[in-house]
Amino acid sequence: MPSVGRNVPRREGPDKLTGRARYIDDLDFPGGLFGVTCRSSVPHGVIRKIYFDPAFPWAECVVVTAADIPGDNQVVLFEADQPLLAPGIVRHRMEPIALVAHPLREKAYEALNHIRVEYEELPSALSIEESLARKAVLYGTDNVMRRYEIRRGDVDAALASADVVVEGVYRVPHQEQAYIENNGVAAYEDENGVLTIVGSLQCPYFIVKALKPILKRTEENLRVIQAVTGGAFGGKEEYPDMIAGHAALLALKAKRPVKIIYDRTEDMMSTTKRHPAVVRHRTGLTRDGKLVAQDIDVVMDAGAYVTISPVVLSRGVLHATGPYECPNARLTARAVATNTPPNGAFRGFGAPQTLFAAELHWERISRALGIDPLTLRRRNILKKGSVMATGQVLRESVSAETVLERAVRKSGYLRKRQAFDAWNREAARPTWKGIGLALVHHGPGFTGNGEVVLASRVAVTLTPSGDVRVEVANTEMGQGPTTTLAQIVADTLDLPFERVRVQNPDTHRVPNSGPTVASRTCMVVGGLLAAAARKLQAAVQAETGRWPKTKAGLAAAARRLSQDGGDVRFTADFQKPADIHFDDQTYQGDAYGTYGFACAVTELEVDKTTFEVKVRRFTTSVDVGKAIHPLIVEGQIMGGALQGLGYGLLENPVYDRGAMLNAQFTNYIIPTAADAPPMEVDIVEDPYSRGPFGAKGVGEIPLNSPAPSAAAAVHHATGLLVSDLPVLPEKIEKAHHEREQRA
Ligand code: MOS
Repeated sequence: MPSVGRNVPRREGPDKLTGRARYIDDLDFPGGLFGVTCRSSVPHGVIRKIYFDPAFPWAECVVVTAADIPGDNQVVLFEADQPLLAPGIVRHRMEPIALVAHPLREKAYEALNHIRVEYEELPSALSIEESLARKAVLYGTDNVMRRYEIRRGDVDAALASADVVVEGVYRVPHQEQAYIENNGVAAYEDENGVLTIVGSLQCPYFIVKALKPILKRTEENLRVIQAVTGGAFGGKEEYPDMIAGHAALLALKAKRPVKIIYDRTEDMMSTTKRHPAVVRHRTGLTRDGKLVAQDIDVVMDAGAYVTISPVVLSRGVLHATGPYECPNARLTARAVATNTPPNGAFRGFGAPQTLFAAELHWERISRALGIDPLTLRRRNILKKGSVMATGQVLRESVSAETVLERAVRKSGYLRKRQAFDAWNREAARPTWKGIGLALVHHGPGFTGNGEVVLASRVAVTLTPSGDVRVEVANTEMGQGPTTTLAQIVADTLDLPFERVRVQNPDTHRVPNSGPTVASRTCMVVGGLLAAAARKLQAAVQAETGRWPKTKAGLAAAARRLSQDGGDVRFTADFQKPADIHFDDQTYQGDAYGTYGFACAVTELEVDKTTFEVKVRRFTTSVDVGKAIHPLIVEGQIMGGALQGLGYGLLENPVYDRGAMLNAQFTNYIIPTAADAPPMEVDIVEDPYSRGPFGAKGVGEIPLNSPAPSAAAAVHHATGLLVSDLPVLPEKIEKAHHEREQRA
């Protein structure tokens, strides 16, 4: 019985449910030490002296500073600008300066209280505005770390001749990934001299790449193994390179295993978050709402080091138009340096920021033209054959209209809009009611030529016992690939799901199939696995003249195919499709092979006294190409929706002197089950010819639409447009008060 499209039991489920799953902090390393990090308390400064209190028993500890690094003191992602340990200057609060390890966790923390760092403080730039004003110059001459421009047609001429020009500025803050398990890794040198990292992480090969020049090691004597990982959402994409480097330095100096586990406050204050952004729109339209020009400027706050901001900015600007066709477009984007901890990957990766602006902007346009936001979208929506700002022509799986119309119908959008208008006209009501929608797209897989550069390799192995093993570096973090990838391989081979196992990621056992990011695992890695599985099947058929489906039959085939009586491995490598072209210099071409589309409708009430917002219902239609495992897909969509509603309405990171002040869950408020509205998830399957069984990505797209749909619903309810996230009661109250004053 085929498994694709069925809700087979999740592979990692029973261990997690029963508590058998061992997370990194559950693992014991005999003779091990616990490592802690001494961090900068100033946003920008020269380190004058590191003072170790002589009253503390330092002989019980291992201490590491920048001087102990055998190789380069740089965690290289795009540029070699971020040190592993500050060598003499700090550029943000919480920047690592020194490391201490002790057999007892509490003693290690106590040691930190006996280290004093003296600084000469330097001027700092703590926000996008301060960075652009060059309050401190941290990068180049103007703080601009990356710049992109996308042009189509003649924007200036089109704006000059447009019937109407609508302008708006939108601001989005940091957002914390809020994985349930904090960051943590352990490091030890094994009996063969192999430095081994075990940890909670997304991208094992990223760590290998980052640590090789730091530790002067090779892939042979450096090994990364994933422990059970309790969520990541992008937050364990690049920062584990840093923690792994720290644990490795301590372990090598101590000659004993060292574990580093962050507590919640350290994790929230020190590790990466979603990039804050300011997005400006200047939009030219005809009187009846047809787009003639989109002039969009995006500025993102990268933090103190470049890290992966270039690709976040790139994805952000490539999604900044929203899923609409416009003959003239000018998109400019900059990532700027600030004296704050580097921002990084978070589910959506730049797109939730720019799509919030693009989608909420329709509310402003709707006001200016007196045309409802649904009609405006219908007039401009991407269709098959549409041309995007990069010149990309959409050829297949273009489901924007499908998801829009289905979400409108399923949510009762039009009927409720009228009913709520009637409710809101009655002054005696204690609340205002509103319903708002947002339509988004998301390009699964690496941007532009990214997948070509990654050159991913996967393997499908036939074992001597006649089982099939999937070997990829992609990680299970709760999103389901140990199940989904096994389904893809099982159905490709026409075998029962139970016969296909997935190897736990370990860089000494699996090929580099690329990072577990960018909604690429199911579509790109799953596609490669299907290709490798077909090779296996062809080899068995060539050898035995048939495809034996029994375990014994496959074991016999393995014996004939294997040179040494062991595993028979079939690999597949990523190949650039001949008809997809992207120019990294001009930003013209096919930025993504395909796009997912989603429409969200949020229904809410705003209390007229407290301005508190209660989401009453959330409906979303999402095109995923093919739902390999419908329940996992639905879970991804619901989880992303709740994270997106948190981004829209609740999550308010407060920064003080360049670091998070409310770095705990008592006052960084994320939605809980009690805040979750009834959700209706409508899965749409418009297959992509290159995806396995037609699948496109689903990981990130659910986070793109909720925030703008919620802000649009607040606008519908109150007539007030709050264009900086989160839409907190105090912001609605302030806008309401200002409106009363004007009246
Ligand atoms: Mo993901 S935000 O591309 O790690």
